[in-house]
Order: sequence, then C-alpha cells, then structure tokens
Amino acid sequence: MVKTTVSIIKADIGSLAGHSIVPKPLMELAERKLAEGVETGIINSYYVFNAGDDLELLMTHFKGVDNEEVHGLAWETFKAAAEKAKALKLYGAGQDLLKDAFSGNVRGLGPGVAEMEFEERPSDPIVVFAADKTEPSAFNYLLYKVFADPFNTAGLVIDPRMVDGFEFDVLDAIENRVVTLKTPEEAYMLLALIGTTERYIVWKVRRASDGEIAAVSSTTKLSLIAGKYVGKDDPVCLVRAQSGFPALGEILAPLLHTYLVSGWMRGSHWGPLMPVGLKDSRCTIFDGPPRIVALGIQVADGKLVSDDDGRPLINDLLADPAFDLARREALELASALRRMGEFEPARLGPQAMEYTTLPLVLKKLEERFKEV
Ligand code: F6R
Ligand code: MG
Ligand code: MG
Repeated sequence: MVKTTVSIIKADIGSLAGHSIVPKPLMELAERKLAEGVETGIINSYYVFNAGDDLELLMTHFKGVDNEEVHGLAWETFKAAAEKAKALKLYGAGQDLLKDAFSGNVRGLGPGVAEMEFEERPSDPIVVFAADKTEPSAFNYLLYKVFADPFNTAGLVIDPRMVDGFEFDVLDAIENRVVTLKTPEEAYMLLALIGTTERYIVWKVRRASDGEIAAVSSTTKLSLIAGKYVGKDDPVCLVRAQSGFPALGEILAPLLHTYLVSGWMRGSHWGPLMPVGLKDSRCTIFDGPPRIVALGIQVADGKLVSDDDGRPLINDLLADPAFDLARREALELASALRRMGEFEPARLGPQAMEYTTLPLVLKKLEERFKEV
C-alpha cells in the first residue's frame, strides 16, 4: 500500500511591525505557490498558516520524507515570499533563509521541518503544533507527558496497544548525534537527557510494540548553523492521535497548564508557553509571550480531509476556552519574569547567551577590566 507523507516546513521570511505576524500578502503568495505544487503533482494538498512571525507550510504527498521536489517547492515558496517581503520592506525579510543555494532538501538551510511517512489507518487524526519565540526542545516536556507519563495519558495504562511504551530518538544538537531510549523502562534516563533543553531535543517517537511512527519534531538550531544569533528556531511538531496512539485529548492535556521555554525576546529569555487559537497567533508583549497553536487535521488518501470546495478542514484546537487557565497562568508567570528584567533566571544562562548578541556588548567592556 502506498504510504502517505505529512510535511510541515516553516520559516520566518518577514513580518509586519517587527517580529509579530506573517502579513496576509505573504500567506496568499504561499497559498498560490502551493496550489501550483498541487497542479504540477508535487503535493496532494496543503494548508498555509502562521505561528507568530513564522510562515507554516503544511503539505501532504506520496513522496516520502526529505523529498527533493517537496522541499524544493517549500524553498521556492519561501524565496518568493522573501522577495515580496523585501519589496514591501517588511521587517526581517528573508530572515531564516541562511543559504542561497538549494541542494536537495532544506535541512541546514534555515527552515524548520517535521515530516512523517506512514501507511494510513482507516481514519488518521493528527495534531500539528507550531510555536513562536521558542526553540525545538520546547516540545520535550509536552512529548514526554504525552508518550511517557501515565498521569497525563491514560492510554499508557488502559490501552493494550500502548502498554508496551514508546521509543524516543533524542538528538544531541551540539555533537550532532542521536540516541534511542525506551519508556517506561528508561524513563528516568530519558528525563536526565531531555531536561537539558539547551542541548537535547526529542526528535522522533515510535510505538514500541511495532515501531510505528507516533511523533516527529523539527530540530533546526539556526545558531548552530550560522555560528551566531540569526533569529529563533521556532519549532513545529506532528503527533498522530487515537486508536493505539494517545487520544487527541491526551495530546492536548499537557497544555492545561503553561510551562517555561527558552527563546523569548532576542532569543535570550525564559518565557511561559501560551496556548492560543490561530487568530491570537501574534507576538506582542516583550515579543511574546512564546505562543503555541495546534491544528487538528485528518488525512485520507494522501490528502488533508477537505470540505466540498476543497478547503482543508482544520480544528483550531487551542482556541478552546479550556486553555484559558493556561493563558492566565502564562500571563501571571510572564509578569513575574518581566519584573526581573535582565537578571537570571529571567534571562538565559551564560552558555545559551553565547549564541545571542550579548557577547558583542560584553566585548566593548573587555579592555576596561583590570587585574586584581
Ligand atoms: C525574533 C525575536 C525578537 C527579536 C527582537 C530584536 O525572532 O525573537 O525578539 O530578537 O525583536 O530584533 P532586531 O534585532 O531585529 O531588532
Ligand atoms: Mg522574525
Ligand atoms: Mg518566529
């Protein structure tokens, strides 16, 4: 049976009034480009949305992960959108396009990618997460809760297809190597790694009983590609739901409360992750707080399930009032952290700050230091 691939590829290619939203003309241009991609048979269906200042291209196709044509389509779309952003003199035009030449796929060029290929089930629900003003390891906590914490996911205890647990591929972003850990047996060791969010990123999760892909997140670290601060690696993540995977509600349950992630203002601060609906996917206070959106989609016959006019059916999950508590908590935490100004732990520790613009400031002081 032919396998379906779901790809989400994103980049910040320009924003309206600073680093806040992707303006409409860029979204419309991206839609036109992806519509051409459907016409020419590269992809089967698509949905364009924004997470703050990041342009998100959700696509389905039969071409597998890391496919040259699909990545090429995304790259050309970002390039065209960046040109438009430059023409309009939008802010940060082309920000995340770090290299000029496309060579097979977008990995290492700046855009973030999460893709999974699978044999469709009779009905295949998926949750698409996208966050702004944070980094790929922002999903470490969420993915641990969903796939390894029985106090979050009842299915780990009740569903016979899940009691064998899950395997986590964890990327060491500094050494560029990966290790696989199996839960529940190795849950403590997994936490020992992924609690260090500055370095370790949960990349893929598979169901242990049959190796079936369950989740994948983007792993791009722009600072590690460019060697300096060039913007944020605002991440995306795909999670398969139901019948042998966590239920939709188990996937969303960690967002009943906020939690702290790094990457707020200038990529230099801790901030509370605030769940929002698409209409509130707009960064404001201190360029944030870091925001997360989640789309509930269904995939069938290689396409996003759509209405009669061919428009994909999207469930804007975090628009629900059920996330008001987390939003309120996020604002309260944001207010406590902002009272601290530039003092740690509101600001990131010195190691993480090496990848920001702070060292340029400290350099100016260097010659004024005297031996004691
Ligand atoms: C961008 C981001 C923002 C910027 C900040 C300063 O993704 O996180 O917080 O870092 O607005 O931006 P510049 O240096 O462009 O003025
Ligand atoms: Mg930006
Ligand atoms: Mg962004």
